[in-house]
Amino acid sequence: MEFKEFFSLIRSRVDARLKIKIDSLDNDAADLKEAMTYGLMLGGKRSRPFLVYATAKALGLDFSEVDNAACAVECIHAYSLIHDDMPEMDNDELRRGLPSVHKKFGQATALLAGDALQTLAFEFLSDNKNNPCATIKMVSLLSTLAGYKGMCGGQAMDLAAEGCAVGLETMQLLHSKKTGALICASVLMAASLLDESESTTYDALHTYAKKVGVAFQIWDDVLDVIGDTSILGKKAGSDISLDKSTYPSLLGLDKARELAIETASEAVEALDAVASDTSLLREFALFCVQRDH
Ligand code: IPE
Ligand code: IPE
Ligand code: MG
Ligand code: MG
Ligand code: MG
Repeated sequence: MEFKEFFSLIRSRVDARLKIKIDSLDNDAADLKEAMTYGLMLGGKRSRPFLVYATAKALGLDFSEVDNAACAVECIHAYSLIHDDMPEMDNDELRRGLPSVHKKFGQATALLAGDALQTLAFEFLSDNKNNPCATIKMVSLLSTLAGYKGMCGGQAMDLAAEGCAVGLETMQLLHSKKTGALICASVLMAASLLDESESTTYDALHTYAKKVGVAFQIWDDVLDVIGDTSILGKKAGSDISLDKSTYPSLLGLDKARELAIETASEAVEALDAVASDTSLLREFALFCVQRDH
């Protein structure tokens, strides 16, 4: 199946499932529910669910085995963006072409919307009575990679690096945690369904995911410099005004671009060790460093 066709198929699939879950919440805290819906459902490329399903497809798994993982990682991602935009973090007022959640609903509700989307992720993951073993593996992966050792730790490093000239090694670690970790979780949750004897495939997918994660964030940093606010849906130049440590700030725009493309090619190369058809994952790595938003 073609890349674009697959992307639009999984978008509809994940959106439908997210909508059912969020619509099923009661209306006792209607404002909070509205903020969660706004932060989760409006816009978003659904790149992480794409990776869950594309990995599942490469491994010959049934999509029903990873539906909850795809929804869960998108909930964590949506929560991370809501908090990322708040004044205490990046102080961004525009997201996906709309006012950020805290601008629209206020800071307290934005904070809670992030919190509740985080727990909703684990509600999704634990809703699997048929395969408790797979559930435990996925919960373990997502909780670890979204937390201190992964996304939250990376976000803290990102804030600490504002106004500092950090070195390339620190920047790589920071990027691999703040963005790479959730991208790894997306691939690894699907790969965790592999038989344990298939460790070569698992390791190759892990290498792929780590490289894609870094390439994705380098390109995000590049887009902050060359992108157009109306296409990005978020304010271009935000990193510069916050004096963020980014690849373009450290290496210059051209070198950062080159590094993104090189890292994406390394991701593709890692897939050589996987015997099955990984064309969707290969195309995703290239998409990461070509996208305009
Ligand atoms: C933006 O992620 C933040 C990063 C981790 C780089 P995306 O570019 O995946 O954002 P959406 O979900 O498509 O809006
Ligand atoms: C965000 O990185 C990474 C997250 C974990 C949310 P950025 O701060 O660069 O993401 P944008 O540019 O605001 O989307
Ligand atoms: Mg940030
Ligand atoms: Mg930000
Ligand atoms: Mg950014």
